Amino acid sequence: MPTAAIIGASRGIGLGLVERYASEGWRVHATTRTPGRPGALGEVAGDVHVHGLEVTDRPQQRALREALEDEAVDVLIHNAGVYGRGMRAATVNRINAEAPFEVAESLMAAVLRSDQRKIALITSMMGARRGSTRSLGKYGDSKAALNDRFREIEGSWRERGCLAVVIHPGWVRTDMGGRNAAVSVEESARGICDLMASLDESGHGRFWTWEGREHPW
Ligand SMILES: NC(=O)c1ccc[n+]([C@@H]2O[C@H](COP(=O)([O-])OP(=O)(O)OC[C@H]3O[C@@H](n4cnc5c(N)ncnc54)[C@H](OP(=O)(O)O)[C@@H]3O)[C@@H](O)[C@H]2O)c1
Repeated sequence: MPTAAIIGASRGIGLGLVERYASEGWRVHATTRTPGRPGALGEVAGDVHVHGLEVTDRPQQRALREALEDEAVDVLIHNAGVYGRGMRAATVNRINAEAPFEVAESLMAAVLRSDQRKIALITSMMGARRGSTRSLGKYGDSKAALNDRFREIEGSWRERGCLAVVIHPGWVRTDMGGRNAAVSVEESARGICDLMASLDESGHGRFWTWEGREHPW
């Protein structure tokens, strides 16, 4: 069976992705900031391997790369993110817009060793600029910066041999999305997994929703 790596899997959509891939029989590498207290992540049935990762911590990024040195990662999903209430904009940006590329670069060799070679960075529709230059708020600006960087880099990732996308996961009932959100974790995770399964060259470099629709930048 193929292997997935889910970054930011302690709860919410990341945990849902681990449950989904594991239930389909995939080998799953899942990261949490608290590997000594994995909580629900430690209870997911299947071939699940828990690793510690604070996404902004370079030594921890290197340690994860070394832990996966003999692995081939078919699908890498960078899901970790913060809404940033009470946080400085620079910190939100570091987590949401810089760390995803550091983590993806650090695991690129493991992705390129695999058969499927696919990468998704979880963004948000709140980061869609739609041609405007006005501020989208701390969170929206950080996701817009993620999208901008992705558009700069996706061509070189394609040349190196992977297929990569950014995905809006829906407005999802998680700690971040709140209990009134429209989409369940299971629906979002299923949509993201289906999208990754059907991703081919024609879908590379684009901004998708969990429902498989293209989203405007
Ligand atoms: N929910 C929505 O409606 C919605 C909509 C659009 C986009 N998104 C995006 O979807 C992704 C997942 O959101 P969610 O709703 O599942 O959020 P969530 O329930 O708040 O979970 C966030 C996850 O990210 C992890 N994380 C946060 N900062 C981290 C860091 N510095 N290092 C490592 N892990 C970190 C958290 O780990 P801890 O448990 O250690 O904090 C947790 O596993 C995010 O990128 C979010 O921006 C969500």
